[in-house]
Amino acid sequence: MNTAAAFADFRTYPLISALTGVQTLADRVLVRWADDRVSPFHHQWLRDNCPCPQCVYTVTREQVLEIVDVAQDLMADNVSIDNDGCLAVVWQDGHCSRFDPGWLRAHAYDDESRAERQQRKPVARLWHSDLQLPVFEYQALMNDSDALLQWLLAVRDVGLTQVRGVPTEPGSLKLIAQRISFIRESNFGVLFNVQSKADADSNAYTAFNLPLHSDLPTRELQPGLQFLHCLVNDAEGGESIFVDGFAIADALRREDPESFKNLCEIPVEFRNKDRHSDYRCLAPIIALNALGQVSEIRMANFLRGPFDASVEQMPRLYKAYRRFIAMTREPRFRLIQRLNPGELWCFDNRRTLHARNAFDPATGARHFQGCYVDRDELLSRILVLQR
Ligand code: OGA
Ligand code: ZN
Ligand code: ZN
Repeated sequence: MNTAAAFADFRTYPLISALTGVQTLADRVLVRWADDRVSPFHHQWLRDNCPCPQCVYTVTREQVLEIVDVAQDLMADNVSIDNDGCLAVVWQDGHCSRFDPGWLRAHAYDDESRAERQQRKPVARLWHSDLQLPVFEYQALMNDSDALLQWLLAVRDVGLTQVRGVPTEPGSLKLIAQRISFIRESNFGVLFNVQSKADADSNAYTAFNLPLHSDLPTRELQPGLQFLHCLVNDAEGGESIFVDGFAIADALRREDPESFKNLCEIPVEFRNKDRHSDYRCLAPIIALNALGQVSEIRMANFLRGPFDASVEQMPRLYKAYRRFIAMTREPRFRLIQRLNPGELWCFDNRRTLHARNAFDPATGARHFQGCYVDRDELLSRILVLQR
């Protein structure tokens, strides 16, 4: 690896295609690659991304230059391909920049390069009731970083996984969650105990059925990953149910576009309170990202406040809400499976909705432990494992 690449960041950039020619225009440099692609780079962009030790602190590999500190119309005096195959720029003010061709190609913003990058982005693999559930072994995940990576990719792309062979001692969930990163604590604890209790501070801690929901929709940022680890499951009932919220949103978008739009636009309040806390969050049930793709589902009927929408919106909101809930009950979307001791669910809480059937505490004990890890931690861990 040459020095230009070493400064860029903690990743390495393979040489995809060598630089073969450069041409300088008034506001940009046109770079030609060995595979005949031509990538324009504006002078400002090149100056902004100079990887030299004056512009990027070599220890953190973070930028110290701010582009406003160089002239807006700064021109290159000389642009060439040096002996190492790097793009070398001498600026009018005397500053010199060198760009590794692997790095430059990975960041090129001609249409073709951008389309290629878009194609390589992970996409959610939508699933229905016939999902081949991705199942992983605890011991492998604890000892083998490749097995760990495969699991995390499934959590990212499918949004629902099961792990088997987990010890049934209380607290053992912590060890496997920490294979990803630190746990996101909440008012229910670092680990929460899902058990039927007399003084329940959530319907989750009863024996009632829990309809399909995401956890903590009452928070501005819903937890990204949720774990549910079964220690004891002797009670009758209590089966786990999952739906892919993105698959439902996708079907709703096609089958009832008006309702889809209303769920994206009309905010709903979710609430959870006890003696010491009072959480509320007002947000639409379906969130879209900047590209208009479904990026999050927020739903828990048992935590919902009264709708507060305009008189004109109210009937539309009810129509859309009823339709969404009706879809979560449709067999085509539902995966139903009982969790046994030593097994755990790990799923994307901002995508995959989960439910449990009612159970009968008179027939035996039922004890699950749960915890959360944020999506950022998952994505960061994947990138580090892939380095
Ligand atoms: C919860 C929950 C599922 C279960 O505690 O939020 O969804 O199977 N529990 O008890
Ligand atoms: Zn520099
Ligand atoms: Zn839940």
